[in-house]
Amino acid sequence: MLAVVPTPVTVTVPSKINVHLAVGPARDDGYHELTTVFQALSLTDTVTVSAAEESSLHVVGEGEKIVPRDESNLAWRAIDVLAEHLDTTPAELGPVRIALEKGIPVAGGMAGGSADAAGTLLALSTLWKLDLSRDELTRLAAKLGSDVPFSLLGGTALGTGRGEELLPVLTRHTFHWVLAFAQRGLSTPRVYKELDRLRDVGEPPPAVDDHDVVIEALASGDPHRLAELIGNDLQIAAVSLRPNLRRTLRAGVEAGALAGLVSGSGPTCAFLCEDAESAVQVSARLSGAGVCRTVRVASGPVPGARVVEPDGGP
Ligand code: C5P
Repeated sequence: MLAVVPTPVTVTVPSKINVHLAVGPARDDGYHELTTVFQALSLTDTVTVSAAEESSLHVVGEGEKIVPRDESNLAWRAIDVLAEHLDTTPAELGPVRIALEKGIPVAGGMAGGSADAAGTLLALSTLWKLDLSRDELTRLAAKLGSDVPFSLLGGTALGTGRGEELLPVLTRHTFHWVLAFAQRGLSTPRVYKELDRLRDVGEPPPAVDDHDVVIEALASGDPHRLAELIGNDLQIAAVSLRPNLRRTLRAGVEAGALAGLVSGSGPTCAFLCEDAESAVQVSARLSGAGVCRTVRVASGPVPGARVVEPDGGP
């Protein structure tokens, strides 16, 4: 067993939205080639790990009843990937208690599961004093899922490949968003399959502009400019599976948002607002419209996964 940090290690991890998501055709490995612009948002999950007598996974918060505790939870897979990297076994690494405090909706298109995987990876590598470089962590993160590297990186980034190849985009401006959580989640593979099906029967027109203009709008800090350019190729597939999302998207704009889109594979809808004050107003009106389960206000970009020092500092 490894020498471990004697106190629990806590990591906070952001959610993400894709302000731009262009989906190419399916590749031979089943994944789709993407060009996407990620933004990390202030809606977060917290992961706390500690050495224990027996391994266990605990979940509180958003979706706590439906988060799997078994090996299908990506947090466990993080241990396997670390063990493989160290050429050892999970048993050799020693039992751990993993506690997830969830703010990010489950199966909501905001990379909640990826955030937990990224958080567990960083927290365990700190607990076990593994001294992994950011590059090594990012490589291990990509083994866990397409969005996991971005959960580590945070900020704003251009993603290519299956979304795991990242180029940070420097932006100095904060954008304000309102998020509408749906009653039930959507399966990501199902949404990609639905897009393939729709394309097979009639090729829906691409929903998105060129990513360069989106990055320019982000750099300008002008939410009105960005509002005209946000777009997501997966939206048509998510709406096809959940036609009610049309109503939610309309309600957000009627509530005063500049624009709205489905976040990633959905079903969460993200609404871009003029400023922080407007976001609070939009969220209040949208809550009253009865078109979603929960409404949250968030801003971005925020940093990626980071260890919270025990004194409460960053
Ligand atoms: O990488 P991750 O495990 O998060 O992907 C979940 C599923 O989403 C994949 O199995 C695939 O069906 C779909 N996907 C895709 N193309 C991508 C990313 C994900 O088809 N670029």
